[in-house]
Amino acid sequence: MSEEKRDVHNSVLFECAWEVANKVGGIYTVIKTKVPVTVSEYGDRYCLIGPLMYKTAPMEVEAQEPTDPALAASLELMRSQGVKCLYGRWLIEGAPHVLLFDTGSAYNRLDEWKGDLWNLAGIPSPPNDHETNETIVFGYLVAWFLGEYVSRQLHTAVVAHFHEWQAGLAIPLCRKRHIDVTTVFTTHATLLGRYLCAGSVDFYNNLQYFDVDHEAGKRGIYHRYCVERAATHCADVFTTVSHITAYESEHLLKRKPDGVLPNGLNVVKFQAMHEFQNLHATAKAKINEFVRGHFYGHYDFDLENTLYMFTAGRYEYRNKGVDMFIESLARLNYRLQSSGSKTTVVAFIIMPAATNSYTIEALKGQAVMKQLRDTVTEIQNRIGARLFDHAARFHGEGRTEVAPEEILSAEDEVLLKRRIFALKRNTLPPIVTHNMADDANDPVLNQIRRVKLFNASSDRVKIVFHPDFLNSNNPILGLDYEEFVRGCHLGVFPSYYEPWGYTPAECTVMGIPSVTTNLSGFGCFMQDLIERPEDEGCYIVDRRMQSVEESVNQLTDNMFTFCNKTRRQRINQRNRVERLSPLLDWKNLGIEYSKARQLALRRAYPDAFYGVGGAESEEEEFDFGGGIERMIPTSMPASPRLRGTATPGDMGTLTEEMQALETSDYRGYNWPRSAEEEEDSYPFPLV
Ligand code: UDP
Ligand code: G6P
Ligand code: GLC
Repeated sequence: MSEEKRDVHNSVLFECAWEVANKVGGIYTVIKTKVPVTVSEYGDRYCLIGPLMYKTAPMEVEAQEPTDPALAASLELMRSQGVKCLYGRWLIEGAPHVLLFDTGSAYNRLDEWKGDLWNLAGIPSPPNDHETNETIVFGYLVAWFLGEYVSRQLHTAVVAHFHEWQAGLAIPLCRKRHIDVTTVFTTHATLLGRYLCAGSVDFYNNLQYFDVDHEAGKRGIYHRYCVERAATHCADVFTTVSHITAYESEHLLKRKPDGVLPNGLNVVKFQAMHEFQNLHATAKAKINEFVRGHFYGHYDFDLENTLYMFTAGRYEYRNKGVDMFIESLARLNYRLQSSGSKTTVVAFIIMPAATNSYTIEALKGQAVMKQLRDTVTEIQNRIGARLFDHAARFHGEGRTEVAPEEILSAEDEVLLKRRIFALKRNTLPPIVTHNMADDANDPVLNQIRRVKLFNASSDRVKIVFHPDFLNSNNPILGLDYEEFVRGCHLGVFPSYYEPWGYTPAECTVMGIPSVTTNLSGFGCFMQDLIERPEDEGCYIVDRRMQSVEESVNQLTDNMFTFCNKTRRQRINQRNRVERLSPLLDWKNLGIEYSKARQLALRRAYPDAFYGVGGAESEEEEFDFGGGIERMIPTSMPASPRLRGTATPGDMGTLTEEMQALETSDYRGYNWPRSAEEEEDSYPFPLV
């Protein structure tokens, strides 16, 4: 530690993640949406650190010269030693400083660093694990940078906040090298959790019994697990995103988190309620266009009576509950058919898989529909011109009415017929929009085959599998993800493993109802805050206390009930969902991150807070308070009914109190206790 006392009240913050300016999944969303509140607290003392991806960086970052002399000198030195990096402003709301390291430029040091890692921390690294190699190089570069920086900037404390194991390796390095920073590690999942759940284990009932080293070794991820565990244990403050993951981390990473930092969103409030309802209508019109094209030749259902449901995310078949979604869709199909319903459901699955671009059939669907539309527009113009001409010729006598053959010429009729005949099709509308790299073994396709949802005319539930993320430049389904969500009616995310789950949270702030589960961090969060979440359009399937069969039926019931709602009821429900947004706003949840940083500073620099004598002066007290007034705008109607005085502030539990929790006390759970805990609580002495 340095001789000079660092100022802990104006600390500098570096926030480091593999998904900084690099979109992979939800961590990108955490970092990006949180920037405005972090910038409002730290201003120019905030800088994000991530990997330099040459393909996307030019769109994400505007290069700039650093103005902080210590930072400039540190980068200068690293550059002189061959490290390539990009410093500038990340082009997102809040425009924070960002520093991206090109790992490729330092691969010549990989072997040396691997050796050092083994000597320093006993962490092995097999030769051909690309992800681990990236983690090592990135971790060493970040630790190098932080070391350089704090040796030049001696007056303020530095908080280094790391997300997830891929960015976490710098933490043990900082600790071993005594780099004068204080560290926070936030995990968004555990490696073992993800792997174990993707297999077929009864994860949640056995969490406390897993032999972690053995399980990691069995799955070939022992070295990655070591990195994750080292980051967890070396951090001054360890946090995660939900109570369910806190419980998991305690058992799989063997450290009880210091607190939970729930994920927020940057909520944009519209002036009037109807504005987001209008957005739904316009986005839905675009999805309608796609559907007409995709189902050409079989477009025999009424779009006014069609509901769009969807699931989306990284392709984790079991973890994201796609298995449950498809099974429930099959049951929904049967129930809609047997109840004689006129409603059609089009269910979208948006999950990137390995593909070889779009199928001809999918492209053709959009093309024939476009041609038909163009032809109809041309004919319409010609009819208009004829009508106009006919009317203009009226001179006091003669016919005012026009004969149909005068309106639609024989040529136009032929042209129209050609377009109509082009819509004939001998095959059913396709399920998948892309050529799959491994069609025969794809789990989603195989299950769709098993339940026989083939988009037949008699099916009330149709499926479209789009194995890529959405983008408004796509030739089919050309909408941005946000626009697509707005145009849908119901998001369905029946996850089995989901530390948080942004997708249903995003639905909520866009006013789109969704289904999630009580195994997702978000689901539990809402269940803890709201008395009857399903009344607010936030359905939560119980995947903890019920059998799979019962959960599937519950999901089917939820979807079936939704299908029976009238348009008016759907509009009302969208209004109710949208009202929940403040619960998810970073303006309310960002404080948990501040608390984590404060705790880290206190742990690293106790003297600065408590004085050498140990007493904390009054002005040093931090007010982490907050309450219902803080988060619910006064204009908000009385509903939704929140539980007690719970607030997101209460949900994030970054206090020493978290440390005192028994395993079974994580919010919302009555988790199985470990054998020792059971023994402790045994009411009679065991003689
Ligand atoms: N997402 C996206 N485009 C898509 C589908 C999903 O950008 O076509 C985003 C979505 O907005 C969300 C993220 O991917 O922010 C997924 O995050 P989540 O926390 O649900 O899951 P993760 O992938 O992190 O496990
Ligand atoms: C929004 C629009 C309404 C439209 C409705 C359709 O609320 O403001 O004009 O009728 O969406 O709702 P639906 O649930 O049928 O897509
Ligand atoms: C992880 C989790 C996801 C969470 C995201 C952001 O990728 O899988 O559930 O929402 O991180 O915390």
